[in-house]
Amino acid sequence: MNRTAALVPAAGRGERLGPGEPKALREISGVPILIYAVSVLASARSVDLVVVAAPPGDVESVSALLAQQSFSDKVSVVAGGDTRQESVARALIALPADVDVVLVHDAARPLVPVELVTAIVAAVRAGNPAVVPGLAVTDTIKEVNSDGDVLSTIDRNSLRAIQTPQGFDRELLQRAHAQLDESQGIFTDDAGLVEAMGITVKVIEGHIEAMKITRPFDLAIAETIIAKRRASGVIT
Ligand code: C5P
Repeated sequence: MNRTAALVPAAGRGERLGPGEPKALREISGVPILIYAVSVLASARSVDLVVVAAPPGDVESVSALLAQQSFSDKVSVVAGGDTRQESVARALIALPADVDVVLVHDAARPLVPVELVTAIVAAVRAGNPAVVPGLAVTDTIKEVNSDGDVLSTIDRNSLRAIQTPQGFDRELLQRAHAQLDESQGIFTDDAGLVEAMGITVKVIEGHIEAMKITRPFDLAIAETIIAKRRASGVIT
């Protein structure tokens, strides 16, 4: 059987959110960010299992939290690492042999619509080895130096803001992590590792609600989205 797994790096401290719990355990409308993210993935018919990389000091509490959820039989927890890359690598090692497609989804993107998850899996299963969601950029983007002087203005028509879940052929993602050359710097997503191998990554249309929670303002936006969903009966 060919199964699809979703890996959820959730070990970040979330310092840009201000002092408090690790980001994945902060609450939006009374529910931890991580629970929203895992719930979407675990309820997707296209996803068979979910592996969460928890903050190393919180593995027990995260496991206990997930064990209370209706979807707990699909979910397992490993200890994350010092970088996002390391957290993903630790979750990858935990995968069973019959998984051939892997999604990597930031815990910090709790409101990703299930349709986007399914579209990414479908695009990988259609033969694209690496697929990511992206949105056109609305701001003008400029490159600056350390003094804040503008070096250039980049044509935004060719830019995309990349989200997660990112989908991969499992064997390719494992190779990308194994071949990782630390001297190339810290990669902020998994597609970057695959690109460094010379493999073409496909971008499909992302979704505005797959936004990443980074700053306190993002929490307020997420609360608004949840209120709107509750009002329309999408979630309870
Ligand atoms: O820091 P950033 O917002 O880019 O983090 C993206 C995702 O990677 C978050 O879900 C965060 O929890 C995760 N992460 C991780 N391990 C780290 C750092 C970040 O799992 N050491």
